[in-house]
Amino acid sequence: MIIVPVGENTLSDCRKHIPKILKKADVVELRLDFLDDISIPKIEKLICTYPILLTLRSKAEGGKGAQTVANRRKVLKEIIDLKPAYLDLEFERDKDLLSYAKSKSPKTSIILSFHKFKGASIDVEKKLKQMKKVKAWKYKVACFSTSVIDAMKMLLLMKRYKDFIGISMGNRGYISRVLAPVYNQPITYACLNECDSLASGQVALDTMVDLYRYPKLSSSTKVLGIIGTPLSQSPGQRVYNSIFAQNDIDSIYLNFELESEELKDFIPLAKKLKFYGLSVTIPHKETIASFVDQKDSMQKDLLSLNSLQFKKNKVFAINTDGLGSLSLLEQHGDVKNKKILIVGAGGTAHGLGFVLNQAGAKVTFMNRTDVKAKNLANMFHAKWRSFGELKKIKKNDYDILIHTTSVGMKDKTESLVPSDILYPGKIVLDVVFNDTKLIQSAKEKKCVAYNGVDFWVDQAALQFRLWHGLEASAAKEKMKKKF
Ligand code: ATR
Repeated sequence: MIIVPVGENTLSDCRKHIPKILKKADVVELRLDFLDDISIPKIEKLICTYPILLTLRSKAEGGKGAQTVANRRKVLKEIIDLKPAYLDLEFERDKDLLSYAKSKSPKTSIILSFHKFKGASIDVEKKLKQMKKVKAWKYKVACFSTSVIDAMKMLLLMKRYKDFIGISMGNRGYISRVLAPVYNQPITYACLNECDSLASGQVALDTMVDLYRYPKLSSSTKVLGIIGTPLSQSPGQRVYNSIFAQNDIDSIYLNFELESEELKDFIPLAKKLKFYGLSVTIPHKETIASFVDQKDSMQKDLLSLNSLQFKKNKVFAINTDGLGSLSLLEQHGDVKNKKILIVGAGGTAHGLGFVLNQAGAKVTFMNRTDVKAKNLANMFHAKWRSFGELKKIKKNDYDILIHTTSVGMKDKTESLVPSDILYPGKIVLDVVFNDTKLIQSAKEKKCVAYNGVDFWVDQAALQFRLWHGLEASAAKEKMKKKF
């Protein structure tokens, strides 16, 4: 069940939104605290026509109204007398009204709610237990948070308590709103448009239904996603979810925006929540290795991993960045003995270097911080050259050039690689998504140029195979069409 709140100054303005909302949502939450004039007869007319949840939020819990305590209580009683289908009451202020509601309108489904917008975090389960001492239809606890971890804890509680709606407000908490039905709670709140959102982190109704396919989610849905930060440029949510929809695959893919220090809490929670698989990106590709139980048999020594699968409480990992780049480059023949120059020495360079080195390529690393290039080279018995020599690279120094840093991501006019060292016929791969300066120069110099989308698609096709058993080439074709 999707509930969409509406807050306008007049009931007629609220009414205008209702038909549109009910095309995709189940219930409209009428925020009475936004109204200049609360007309009981008009509200009665509205609730007789549409499925409506009535909420008169107090100022103390984020409401807009300037209602006095006495007046708010009077209005709530009048509303209960209307016998609405759904009513929101606040645990802190209204719990004694529950017995009034029960006697006057026993069929009303009451959501008993509690909101925490700022200050120290609370023990949500303790609060829920206190709330459950009074009888209601659902118990809603909404707490503001800046962390995915809090949202995951809400999901765990929803799994445990069927009548609990746990909302982690804030952008990173949106997963608590989207994944509710996977963890036993069919009810969520969405906003009509993101700009109209009445609560932080609310997902737009169209996104909830069309991208995340909320009505289809259930406890059998496989939960997948990406961990990293920043994720705003990551195409996974859009591409994976639309392929799931197109092929009727019961899976969902979400962004889990996660700081490095949160990884240690995230993985145990992901196991408890029975997540199915994860993509891993900056800055976790290397740190994730210490949470992995088993690696692909060909990658036992690899310490940069970007694809996880959870199996029987264990984490299996593989690097599809490296394998994806290999399949991309092998379109031009075997990489064995080819000279590959890798610019950068972070997690991506590490994964690519390992796999390409394993495939017999002659890899050379160059990186702003020379020592990191040297370390990777030592690890793989490969070569490295000092970063200052990049501008002196000659035609015979490489066959394939791979740029793995983030330069060019924010500023399309920036490139670490001087165009003078690009030569016709060379293969150039830039892992950055934009049509970067490097890619433009490579095309001008008649190189074979691959950008971040080509790179992403090849590695993602292998992830798709890992999670859904779909042949990588078929997955690749589907993904290309989604860009
Ligand atoms: P990823 O997992 O995507 O590889 P990372 O591990 O953070 O990300 O690695 C980033 C790489 O980009 C590093 O090699 C970094 O160089 P340093 O080792 O010197 O930090 C490189 N990088 C990032 N910004 C850069 C810049 N402005 N100029 C040169 N190299 C840069």
